Amino acid sequence: MLSEQSAVTVRATLPAVGASLGEITERFYAGMFAAHPELLRDLFNRGNQAAGTQRRALAGSIAAFATQLLEHPDERPDAMLQRIAHKHASLGVTADQYEIVHEHLFAAIAGVLGDAVTPEVAAAWTEVYWLMANALIAIERRLHEERGGHGWRPWEVVERITETADVVTFRLRPADGGPVRDFRAGQYVSVRVALADGARQIRQYSLSGAPGPDERQFSVKRVHGGPTPDGEVSGHLHARVRAGDVLELSEAYGDLVLDVGADTPLLLASAGIGVTPMTALLAHIAGSGHRAPVTVVHGDRSPADHALRADHEAYAAKLAAGTVHFWYEQDAPAGAYTGYVDLTPVPVAPGTRAYLCGPPPFLRAVREQLMGKGVAPAGIHYEVFGPDLWQAGRG
Ligand SMILES: Cc1cc2nc3c(=O)[nH]c(=O)nc-3n(C[C@H](O)[C@H](O)[C@H](O)COP(=O)(O)OP(=O)(O)OC[C@H]3O[C@@H](n4cnc5c(N)ncnc54)[C@H](O)[C@@H]3O)c2cc1C
Ligand code: HEM
Repeated sequence: MLSEQSAVTVRATLPAVGASLGEITERFYAGMFAAHPELLRDLFNRGNQAAGTQRRALAGSIAAFATQLLEHPDERPDAMLQRIAHKHASLGVTADQYEIVHEHLFAAIAGVLGDAVTPEVAAAWTEVYWLMANALIAIERRLHEERGGHGWRPWEVVERITETADVVTFRLRPADGGPVRDFRAGQYVSVRVALADGARQIRQYSLSGAPGPDERQFSVKRVHGGPTPDGEVSGHLHARVRAGDVLELSEAYGDLVLDVGADTPLLLASAGIGVTPMTALLAHIAGSGHRAPVTVVHGDRSPADHALRADHEAYAAKLAAGTVHFWYEQDAPAGAYTGYVDLTPVPVAPGTRAYLCGPPPFLRAVREQLMGKGVAPAGIHYEVFGPDLWQAGRG
C-alpha cells in the first residue's frame, strides 16, 4: 500500500506524468538501450520497438498501477500483474534488471518533467515503482519455482506441418531426451532464435495441441511486410526451420487458462491465428468430460486460411454439448456464415465464461456483444498476440 504522503503527491502529479507518457517512454528506451544495447538485441522485441507498439506498455502500466493504488488502495490489479509477470518470466527477466529499468525510467521522468520532479515527487513515484516491481518480482519468482527455474531448453523439431499458405505447425520433443513438464491448455512458450545478424530475438507462441506427455506443438503465421518489414522471427521459422532442427524454448506460461468446473457454460471465440490457444483449450475441454454447453466461434478470411480447422472441428465434435459457428469473409461453405463474426444469432447461456483470442478489433467487438448478451465483464478472458494496449486496466 502507498504511504499517505506519497499518495497525495502521486495524485497531484499523475495528470502531468500521464500526459507526458509518450515522451517519457521514448527517452526511457533510448537511454536504456544506449547503456545496454544487449537488451534490445537479445531480450526486447526489436520489431515492437521499431513499430512503437510496445513502447507505451511499460510506463502506461505503471500509471495504471498508480491509479489503482489511489482509487482502490486495498486491492492489487492482479490480472494486469499476472499478465506482465507471465510474460517477463517466459522471457527470463531477472530481479536485478529492475534496477536498470528504474534508473533509466526515473532519468527519463526527470528529463521530461524537469523542475516539477522535486525530491518529494521522485520519492513518491519511486515508492510506486518498487511496489509494482516487487509485486512482479515475487510472482515471477513463484512462476520460476513452479517450473524448476528459468532456462532455454533445446527442443528438436520432429515434424513440420503446413497448415495453410501462411501457417506452419512445429511438433517438438526435448533434444536432451528428458521429461516434458505439464502445461495448462491456453498457455504459450517463448521461443528464442539466433538471426543472421547475430541478434537473439524472442517471441511467444501459444501451444496449439493438447497437453501431452512427451511433445509440444505451436503454430506460426508468417507476418508479411509491405510498407513495413517482414516479421523477423516468423519469417525465420518459416524459411529456415525444418524437422531435425533444434529450437530454444522456455517452459509454458500464460494466464488464459480454464479455472471452471464441468457445469459452467463456455464460449471459445477466435479469429485468424488466434485459433492456436483455442484448439488447445478445446482439446482439453473435450477430454475432460465437460457437461455444460460449449460454444465454439471462429472467424477467418476463408476456409483455406483457417489454420487447424480439422482439429478445431474434430475436438468440437467430441463435446457433450458443443455448437460450432464459423464465419468466413469468402468461400463460406454450407453451415458457415459469410462476413465477420457477429454473435447476434448465437445463443449464450446464462453464467457463460468466455475465452477470446484474436486481433484487437475482433476482441472489442466480441466483448461488447457478449456483454450485451449478459456475460459479466469478469467472465471474459482473452489473449492478445502483442502488447496488451487495446483495453486499459482489464479484468
Ligand atoms: C502470448 C502470445 C502468444 C502468441 N501466439 C502466437 C501463435 O500461436 N502463433 C503466431 O503466429 N503468433 C503468435 N504470437 C505472435 C508472435 O509472438 C509474434 O509477435 C509474431 O510471430 C510476429 O513476430 P515476427 O518476429 O515475425 O515479427 P516482428 O519482426 O516482431 O514484426 C512485427 C511487426 O512490426 C513491424 N515492424 C518491424 N519493423 C518495423 C519498422 N521499422 N517500422 C514499422 N513497423 C515495423 C513488422 O512489419 C510487423 O508487422 C503470440 C504473441 C503473444 C504475445
Ligand atoms: C516495474 C517494472 C516493469 C513494468 C511495470 C513492466 C511492464 C511491462 C508491460 C506492461 C509489458 C507488456 C506486457 C504485455 O501486455 O504483453 C512488458 C513487457 C516486457 N518487459 Fe517489462 N516491465 C517492467 C520491468 C521490466 C524489466 C526489469 C525488464 C528487463 C530489462 C523488462 C522487460 C520486458 C520485455 C522484454 C517485455 C516484452 C516486450 C517485447 O517483447 O516487446 N520489463 N513489461
